[in-house]
Amino acid sequence: METLRIRRPDDWHIHLRDDNYLSRTVRDAARYFSRVLVMPNLDPPITDVSKAIDYQQRILKFAPPKFQPLMTLYLTDATDKDLIVTAKQSGIIDAFKLYPAGATTNSRFGVNTIKALYPLFKVMEEQDIVLSIHGEVTDENVDIFDREAVFIETILAKVVDHFPLLRIVLEHITTEEAVQFVKSSSDRVAATITAHHLLYTRNDMLVNGIKTLHYCLPILKRNRHREALLKAATSRDSSFFLGSDSAPHPRSAKESACGCAAGCYTGHAAIELYAEAFNSIDKLNMLEGFASEYGADFYGYSRNKDFIELSLQEWRVPTYLTFGEDDLIPTRGGESIAFQVTKGGRYPLSDILD
Ligand code: NCD
Ligand code: ZN
Repeated sequence: METLRIRRPDDWHIHLRDDNYLSRTVRDAARYFSRVLVMPNLDPPITDVSKAIDYQQRILKFAPPKFQPLMTLYLTDATDKDLIVTAKQSGIIDAFKLYPAGATTNSRFGVNTIKALYPLFKVMEEQDIVLSIHGEVTDENVDIFDREAVFIETILAKVVDHFPLLRIVLEHITTEEAVQFVKSSSDRVAATITAHHLLYTRNDMLVNGIKTLHYCLPILKRNRHREALLKAATSRDSSFFLGSDSAPHPRSAKESACGCAAGCYTGHAAIELYAEAFNSIDKLNMLEGFASEYGADFYGYSRNKDFIELSLQEWRVPTYLTFGEDDLIPTRGGESIAFQVTKGGRYPLSDILD
């Protein structure tokens, strides 16, 4: 298949950051996405409605017409029930994000005891607002490659049992166990899958020298997990949808003596990278549901009315991209990507190649 026409996609998990990062992150996302669900893990995080409104305004300064940043709030040990109701009534908050304290970038403000949040989950269930979860335990005795599976078994299964009507998104899943869990749960439990977890394994990160470029959380796993994710994403199962988890970190934070920051920047080419992954098993025809339909359905938005076209036309990704004063190595930096958006982009690819 040389070209593919799909309904305009949305990204249900993205980190746009703030300040001088916004001009680049927003422009990249807005090249073809209609809506993006913006993660709240700034430092300090977005913990109430007025902070979310201010943040949305800062994002909108860089947004072209019809690009919609949808907002989330960050749960902390101090979040109270009233905030859930206020958030729902505000009409601008689409989800609460749960980061176990210490699980990932800017999660030190996160939640220490998930059980203590049960009264909040009850209100979220009543208000029908989505709970979005970074699903990893942080227990130092649990191996980093097992943290997602252990979270599902020891924490998530109980939350789902207690709150059968709560809409939950298990974010950026990385394991066969997560795929199985979501498939065996009701349609109120869904998952996002990133392009990098569909394309790469831990070997890509660890063999022939460690590649900090590929270090993200949850960490890349074995190939059999990648294959399970690809199968789920291409299976026409509406519980799995696009969330790029594009998360920019400057080179100085990726290549630092005190440890490598977790996160991969895929925002310059997210849909093209997904297209490659789907094409690798001849399932490009399944991209539209995953990228443009199931996420909108789950979050209660109507599907976008317009279309984009992707073509098999190779292009070279710059080795570095500039973000304000920083430079950053994007996923595939210095290498090529097989697909391009050839119609329906808000601006040409050349505009983002600096
Ligand atoms: C994300 C970030 O940098 O904000 N990093 C990552 O490795 N995925 C946070 C997150 O989603 O875990
Ligand atoms: Zn994320």
